[in-house]
Amino acid sequence: MCGIIGYTGGAWALPVLVEGLRTLEYRGYDSAGVALMDTDDGSPVVRVAKHSGKLANLEEALRERPLPGSTGLGHTRWATHGVPNDRNAHPHTDDSGRLALVHNGIIENYTQLREELSDRGHGFRSDTDTEVVACLVADRYRGELAAAVREAMCRVRGAFAIAAVHADEPGTIVACRREAPLVIGCMDGASLLASDVAGLVAHTRDVEALLDDQVATLTPNGVTVTDLGGAPAQGHRYRVDWDVDAAEKQGYPHFMLKEIHEQPQAVRDTLIGRTDADGRLVLDELRCDPDELRHVDKVYVVACGTSYHAGLVAKYAIEHWAGVPVEAEIASEFRYRDPILSSHTLVVTISQSGETADTLAAASHARDQQARVVAVTNVVGSSLAREADAVVYTRAGPEIAVASTKAFTTQIVALDVLALYLAQARRALFPDECRDHLARMEALPALLEQVLKQEGELAELAAGSFADAGYVMFVGRHVGLPIALEGALKLKEISYVHAEGFPAGEMKHGPIALIDAGGPVVALATRGHVHGKLLSNIQEVKARGAVVLAVATEGDTAIDAHADHVVYVPEVHELLYPLLTVVPLQLLGYHMAVRLDRDVDQPRNLAKTVTVE
Ligand code: F6R
Repeated sequence: MCGIIGYTGGAWALPVLVEGLRTLEYRGYDSAGVALMDTDDGSPVVRVAKHSGKLANLEEALRERPLPGSTGLGHTRWATHGVPNDRNAHPHTDDSGRLALVHNGIIENYTQLREELSDRGHGFRSDTDTEVVACLVADRYRGELAAAVREAMCRVRGAFAIAAVHADEPGTIVACRREAPLVIGCMDGASLLASDVAGLVAHTRDVEALLDDQVATLTPNGVTVTDLGGAPAQGHRYRVDWDVDAAEKQGYPHFMLKEIHEQPQAVRDTLIGRTDADGRLVLDELRCDPDELRHVDKVYVVACGTSYHAGLVAKYAIEHWAGVPVEAEIASEFRYRDPILSSHTLVVTISQSGETADTLAAASHARDQQARVVAVTNVVGSSLAREADAVVYTRAGPEIAVASTKAFTTQIVALDVLALYLAQARRALFPDECRDHLARMEALPALLEQVLKQEGELAELAAGSFADAGYVMFVGRHVGLPIALEGALKLKEISYVHAEGFPAGEMKHGPIALIDAGGPVVALATRGHVHGKLLSNIQEVKARGAVVLAVATEGDTAIDAHADHVVYVPEVHELLYPLLTVVPLQLLGYHMAVRLDRDVDQPRNLAKTVTVE
């Protein structure tokens, strides 16, 4: 978490830094700060301004007292070490105040380093691990910042991206990363760095992602990259294929609503180019030999949060179409047990950002055990994309709202395509069966447009039967279950209303005790082989006074007798329902949060990209 931005060039740095922080604020919003290099009576100095709370607080302070200078760093924080206050906000300086440093990640050996540095006479003003790194770099400084950073980072354990400036080296920024993202970009007469390409695309689309233990030195004339030993190195260079407009609200009140409405296009884009001239499935990015896929005897899908729910949906598709057993696992649990992995195991890791620490660690654990690792990610050049053996990209475009929506639907699409590809490689389906399934998926964008038209009804429900709900239960069976879990996650994370998702058949084994008169229950009740069972489960909660909203298949008039409210989705293949049924739940969560006046795009305590364990 945390967002880092840096600029050195011919223009005033402050507007570039503040603008960059605005695009990175989704990464954390506990505090924000900047450090600018300037001169005082002709002597070079570093000036820092920082403020707890959202970027707006810092902006207000900077409006009253702008900081001049054409080289600087900016930071937006998601607190790990130390409560979110002004003192713990970044940038942090060393005792002399001549070095300023920003950091994203966690320094595991900071207590030991802090003691060592205290013994050497350094003082500390904050509770953060970052200040320890600032002092460590200052301690090793002998007139060359890059050398000091290299030496210091050899001592540091943990995951980090850092960037530092020193008053004695005007115009220079030095940055380093290990297991946390950092991208650099150059233009005529200026160089920039950011935690995410979103911070750079307003200036350049040609970027270089630093790799682990690389150190970049940025000046207005360009960037040099070395390894920690000082030998020349090169990051991963690529061109960003979306432009700055894609990261704007474009008239929507919130990014989340815009991203919900972008789903038809995002699904369409994710399906483009998936067949060859003979209609056979191709996955160009999947650098996997079909022969290897033929011998896969077990699949693990591993991810966190919403991406994990996409993985749960994929389990049904992979087992049904490709005939391989699948286990879906939460990434933070995966490597702490003893999953039985071999060279015949395929581990599918799913991450919108491609930077989630637990998912990255799971991928590396799987590779260590000789398993083949496929990444499903939205971010080209992300750590996960680089570290996996193969990658399937979702093409959702930038997702800015903390609550994931279009990333989820495109992940399911990419995973379904992967399931069909596996089925094709293993000859579990005939080619025309694969083609038929793909054709059904190609019809989805138009069907999604139809579902989105029901937004008004969901907004009414949010203001009506669901308005004063203290809790909401979501129930589903088969592919409806992951959507029940996702609906509950969406609602709780943005509205702070307690919500839980349950397998509908499990209700009577405990959770039904929660139901009281008027308690809202959302039931995923589309047609399929468990439809009848689900209707019985709805009856069970209705008999205890629940108010039921059913998400049902168009034309299912019988559902009216069971539910108090119904939203309809068009009829599709049973395995494809999740792509449609999640949309009303996203809209319900969104409108409930808006009604409760929540900060929809930046809910409390959360950050978009979780780069710490
Ligand atoms: C919820 C949400 C999170 C993410 C999770 C994984 O709306 O966005 O649960 O899904 O933090 O993030 P990625 O997909 O970037 O690995």
